[in-house]
Amino acid sequence: MPDALLDRIAAAEDLQALDNVRVELLGKSGEITAKLKSLGSMDADTRASEAPKIHALRERVTDAIAERKAALEAGELERKLATEKVDLSLPAREQATGSVHPVSQVMDELAEIFADLGFSVAEGPEIETQWYNFSALNMPENHPARAMQDTFYLEPRTPDEEPFVLRTHTSPVQIRAGESQGAPIYVIAPGRVYRSDSDATHTPMFHQVEGLVIDKAITLGHLKWTLETFVRAFFERDDIVMRFRPSYFPFTEPSAELDVGWSMEKGRRVVGGQEGWMEILGSGMVHPRVISNMGLDPDEWQGFAFGCGIDRLAMLKYGMDDLRAFFDGDIRWLKHYGFRALDVPTISGGVGA
Ligand code: DAH
Repeated sequence: MPDALLDRIAAAEDLQALDNVRVELLGKSGEITAKLKSLGSMDADTRASEAPKIHALRERVTDAIAERKAALEAGELERKLATEKVDLSLPAREQATGSVHPVSQVMDELAEIFADLGFSVAEGPEIETQWYNFSALNMPENHPARAMQDTFYLEPRTPDEEPFVLRTHTSPVQIRAGESQGAPIYVIAPGRVYRSDSDATHTPMFHQVEGLVIDKAITLGHLKWTLETFVRAFFERDDIVMRFRPSYFPFTEPSAELDVGWSMEKGRRVVGGQEGWMEILGSGMVHPRVISNMGLDPDEWQGFAFGCGIDRLAMLKYGMDDLRAFFDGDIRWLKHYGFRALDVPTISGGVGA
């Protein structure tokens, strides 16, 4: 009799069938439950001899069910593993539509180039306080440098709130990176910036990348080498010439702008050659006051910084001539200038290839 019960349990082919058997045997009106109930109506002698048998039977059945359950579950897992496996070596299916915007592409290229030099990517908010956007960068109130950037101010929410600004440059991320991670720092910070300006080469929103290195014994030589390495890797040409030109930024001392040589190719001005110079970025040794505002001791730490327009880098590298088209969302422009999503830039593959 018990063997017949055990056969029924063994015959259950899946978890549902097993549960049905469990209910038939051990449920409220199950067969074994009925036996247990029958103990009550037995005389004492019969009960004394029957009770241990019935309890032992219930125990064996309970164990057998648990065992079968574990076996069925393991089988289920095996089956899932066998049928649901993903072959990671298969090529991904390409999306039929959509492309990567040149600005995103260039940001990826920058991240790739600078990652190779040991930089990580830092971020900051686009709605910024005047402290981070100006004062901490050595541009106090009434400093003429504030007027150089046509700033969008936000309406204050209370009469005594100092208006927030839409950040006019990515430089405030320098201060935030210093505050949040301490020194040494090797970061780039690409992102959106805003200025009240609009024509073929200016849009009220555009993109910059900031670079910041803070460490011990950093010199202008490190800045020069880093920028040269970056420009060569980015434009992927061997005939690039560069020059540093003295300049002024409140947050750096000394400051320099980097010019690259250009030449005409098929009626278009391209980077490379030496027909003329064009400015591509601002840079310098971080001002000691700015280092203090990061919460660091300028006697211990030095560094360099640079800031560069990303949209302009994209225009120079990929040959667009109207910045406004970048942000029109015209599908024909995006199809023409966009990049395939699977073409991830790598140094070894040529970052923009
Ligand atoms: N923030 C400057 C701008 O928007 C660019 C810049 C110049 C950034 C020099 C720097 C720098 O970090 O060192 O015009």
